[in-house]
Amino acid sequence: MNTQQAILTRRSCRKFIDKPIESEKLHQLLQAAMSGPSCVNARDWSFVVVTDRGRLTQMADANGRPAEPLRGAAAAILVCGDLQRAFPPAQDYWVIDGAIAAQNICLAAQELGLGAVWLGTWPQMDRVQAQQKLFALPEHIVPHSVLALGYPAIDLTSPREDRYEENRVHFEQW
Ligand SMILES: Cc1cc2nc3c(=O)[nH]c(=O)nc-3n(C[C@H](O)[C@H](O)[C@H](O)COP(=O)(O)O)c2cc1C
Repeated sequence: MNTQQAILTRRSCRKFIDKPIESEKLHQLLQAAMSGPSCVNARDWSFVVVTDRGRLTQMADANGRPAEPLRGAAAAILVCGDLQRAFPPAQDYWVIDGAIAAQNICLAAQELGLGAVWLGTWPQMDRVQAQQKLFALPEHIVPHSVLALGYPAIDLTSPREDRYEENRVHFEQW
């Protein structure tokens, strides 16, 4: 699968079969996460990988109803920003760097035949604080997003609708 195919076929997967993800594949997901661009190459992120069923349930509880997919997931990756590494003149770039890392995980998952869904965390501070508390994170480590991961119980290979919208694009001038 090439990059364009991964981008065009990717969709959120919220149902998973009961099969663990090989540690080599988890490594590949993390490698993808850490291979994206980041502001001034700050690489201002850290990741918490979870496969323990009880912990996955606690993560689901922490993020509320929209995080239900975690209950059947084989693994989760909590993407966090690291404020000690963020670009001092404009620290908020950490949010963009975290989003790139999360999206790279989603695309790598697609390529590896895994399902993934992004579970929004930052800037919903109740979720941020709940994840912070659950993992006893240091103050400078801020939860950004959760990826629920697993082998898909739905077909992720069939073609998806074309989302290109001509009226969103302006050439040379508005
Ligand atoms: C910032 C962000 C937060 C999201 N939060 C959730 C969530 O909490 N629960 C969920 O099931 N999906 C969540 N999603 C997935 C979106 O619902 C999904 O990407 C969107 O509906 C488009 O569908 P697709 O991913 O299949 O293309 C989130 C996606 C993003 C980018």
